[in-house]
Amino acid sequence: RVLILDFGSQYSQLIARRIREAGVYCELHPFDLDAAVIRDFAPRGIILSGGPQSVHEEETPRAHPCVFELGVPVLGICYGMQTMAAQLGGRVAAATHREYGYAQVRARGHSALLRDIEDHTSPEGYGLLDVWMSHGDRVESLPDGFQVIAETANAPLAGIADETRRFYGVQFHPEVTHTRQGQRILDRFVHDICGCQRLWTPTNIIQDSIATVRRQVGTDAVLLGLSGGVDSSVVAALLHRAIGDQLTCVFVDNGLLRRGEGEQVMRTFARHMGVRVIRVDAEDRFLGRLKGITDPEQKRKIIGNTFIEVFDDEASKLENVQWLAQGTIYPDVIESAGAKTGKAKVIKSHHNVGGLPEEMNLKLIEPLRELFKDEVRKIGIELGLPSEMVYRHPFPGPGLGVRILGEVHREDAETLRRADDIFIEELRRAELYDQVSQAFAVFLPVRSVGVVGDNRQYAHVIALRAVETIDFMTARWAHLPYDFLDLVCRRIVNEIPDVSRVVYDITGKPPGTIEWE
Ligand code: XMP
Repeated sequence: RVLILDFGSQYSQLIARRIREAGVYCELHPFDLDAAVIRDFAPRGIILSGGPQSVHEEETPRAHPCVFELGVPVLGICYGMQTMAAQLGGRVAAATHREYGYAQVRARGHSALLRDIEDHTSPEGYGLLDVWMSHGDRVESLPDGFQVIAETANAPLAGIADETRRFYGVQFHPEVTHTRQGQRILDRFVHDICGCQRLWTPTNIIQDSIATVRRQVGTDAVLLGLSGGVDSSVVAALLHRAIGDQLTCVFVDNGLLRRGEGEQVMRTFARHMGVRVIRVDAEDRFLGRLKGITDPEQKRKIIGNTFIEVFDDEASKLENVQWLAQGTIYPDVIESAGAKTGKAKVIKSHHNVGGLPEEMNLKLIEPLRELFKDEVRKIGIELGLPSEMVYRHPFPGPGLGVRILGEVHREDAETLRRADDIFIEELRRAELYDQVSQAFAVFLPVRSVGVVGDNRQYAHVIALRAVETIDFMTARWAHLPYDFLDLVCRRIVNEIPDVSRVVYDITGKPPGTIEWE
């Protein structure tokens, strides 16, 4: 396994994902991780990430010297290369030109890292690589034992290596896809240089998790809040395989789900897989609580609290439950760990079960804690979940509660469900569903005049929203074809009597958010 020390680059998580894609287990930790923890981790190789700082300033982050004393290969990327050079006796200075964006790197010598990896060959026979650079400093003089393995016009030391100690540094970012040979370079480092095998595969991950879960819970009973979302669904499938009937899932129907969602959960888990699922019909309770409430944050709070109550009620009927399972995934762990501690165990409030463990004295089990979303999806497929479920767009915890603007009425939820279902069905039919990151309909609490047949109709307005995004922090509205939008609009107005008008949301994020509330 490989240890990645994070110096704060926006690409650090990406390094971890690329290493995992190479079939090698790795963990990402803050750069100042304790020496004892580093030794205990027993990495086969260490990667130092990029970071926003400048090495030649005082008091900038440094790797613990033990990194260079463990006798394992080290790869420094961007800032990671600069701090390695500075810590081992080289000199780093501010470059006269900042380099940002595409650059062409010329490989020099026959380093173990870059040998035979190239995008083009120069007339003189050197390998050329198209890479992504983003840095303002450069290494000016090499530490003892190092040689230059790559150069650009602006950075004569764009890649350095001490082949004896197996220390490598690159000024560019192999982890981003703009560096076309990036994955090969990282593969080369972890497989050929560190000697790691390709053992981190969905099948092995499942086997390992099953063994760990069995060891952890023994013969105890485990409870899981199943929402139908990807993470909790994969946890359910995995735990069922590991411990069978020791698992009980509670699925709460709050009346704010998408069309057919409850049936799909019951069909997949209860009927096909034989998982013990308790379905709680709590529509009245949720809608009753929401009566007269129009403020979005208050709606969120009420829905969250009611969920905990309902879940708690069900859980207290079960005897002998000792464990609560959660679908926490690795990005949640990294984000909630904060920049320094790396160890905090925080339960995300939007998982909707915050508060439960303490009150009920349950121990927490989180089998996806080490996995990225794409790995969760892969093991979901391997565990036999339908791909429609595994590749489903995200759906917010408060559900349609934040897509019915203002006060939530039962009939409006039904209208919205029908409109949303038509939109999603047509997206799938047109093979556009997987091209957008999230798509849904929104119910607007206004009426608009329309003409249906010979009659004047004064009915509701539905907004359609579809976005493309990688991280959901920023998003662009999806430029869906006009003919497609036309078709969806016609179907919604023709098939749902209560709707007279359909609009398409063309607001990006920022300034908009993805949801309307
Ligand atoms: P916004 O609207 O903030 O949404 O641009 C970003 C992503 O988060 C989802 N979202 C939520 N998820 N509870 C959740 O579990 C919430 O209260 C919530 N609000 C927004 C939203 O669907 C989008 O994917």
